[in-house]
Amino acid sequence: ATRKLLLLPGDGIGPEAMAEVEKLVAVMNDVTGSGFVTETALVGGAAYDAEGAPVSDATMDLALAADAVLFGAVGGPKWDGVAYEKRPEAGLLRLRKDMQLFANLRPAICYPALADASSLKREIIEGLDLLIVRELTGGVYFGEPKEIIDLGNGQKRAIDTQVYDTYEIERIARAAFELARTRRGKVTSMEKRNVMKSGLYWNEVVTRIHRDEYADLTLEHMLADSGGMQLVRAPKQFDVIVTDNLFGDMLSDIAAMLTGSLGMLPSASLGAADEVTGRRKALYEPVHGSAPDIAGKGIANPLAMIASFAMALRYSFAMIAEADALDASIAEVLESGGRTADIMAEGCRRIGTSEMGDAVAER
Ligand code: NAI
Ligand code: MG
Repeated sequence: ATRKLLLLPGDGIGPEAMAEVEKLVAVMNDVTGSGFVTETALVGGAAYDAEGAPVSDATMDLALAADAVLFGAVGGPKWDGVAYEKRPEAGLLRLRKDMQLFANLRPAICYPALADASSLKREIIEGLDLLIVRELTGGVYFGEPKEIIDLGNGQKRAIDTQVYDTYEIERIARAAFELARTRRGKVTSMEKRNVMKSGLYWNEVVTRIHRDEYADLTLEHMLADSGGMQLVRAPKQFDVIVTDNLFGDMLSDIAAMLTGSLGMLPSASLGAADEVTGRRKALYEPVHGSAPDIAGKGIANPLAMIASFAMALRYSFAMIAEADALDASIAEVLESGGRTADIMAEGCRRIGTSEMGDAVAER
């Protein structure tokens, strides 16, 4: 089978991290005949400089035709003065919008070797493995009206509107239940039904989808503020958390910090399944940005990018054994004491970006 990957390395450390994924792709093609075909295109500031837009129409077409898009990172001080709609980050927003990526997946996994690097006690986070499923294309970030009105009496009024239609809640709920089915079978839905109509309706729709289609799984409801508290107090109680765009933005950043470095955190953004092929549009990217402060030095941690590729194997290609093997290789490399600067600890061996990629590829 042919598996089409579009690589969008981007700016800063993006290309350095992506180079390590390319090593893994080459190894997988050579050793296991995975049949990956890669194309590489510019995105972000690099695309703005060369093509006049942070993602060109041609690149957008490649992204829509690929089985999966791997995205590095975009942005940097060089493009600070660029107009809002042409800034590097606008490239990522266009990809998300045109690919209709409505489900953002952010795992929080605690590697035993890094448990002491967390600000929480080892027993609270050791063995942690949760997945936040954030609604990404609706809610208060996009709802209308969205404006600042001059009231004329020296006062202004700022308005954002939280809007969720039935289909938007249904599809994110189904995505969360499907994911839970491949994990430990539990979904926790978070909203604020006590003070928000959209929270009340979110709760109602998620409850119905569970009752009608996924009654064999466990559904639990939690108020989002209380959920934030529980994430820090006892995170291991969670398997899959499903929540809206705004709460998901905050809760996933909290969950990220449970496990330590930004350089370790992968993410996936999934679209609707094609009715004929069942294939989902999908984009995989590390949570971190372009890290201009360390770019070009060969010291960036490529594991977030590599773990994002593991998510692509899992969710776009159903290569579960390969994804598990890759995740296990990451854990083994950490266990063996190889560390990039951002996760360096006493008694460990400091290695660079390329050595880290080599160590994973070797395993
Ligand atoms: P950042 O994530 O790029 O860096 C924050 C800090 O974490 C820096 O000290 C950096 O050196 C460190 N860091 C990040 N990734 C690392 C890695 N893989 N290995 C080792 N250390 C790592 O966030 P920042 O500094 O706020 O933003 C820098 C640029 O990146 C800005 O232009 C921003 O707009 C952009 N950005 C892009 C994102 C994307 O492409 N999705 C997401 C976040 C920021
Ligand atoms: Mg955020």
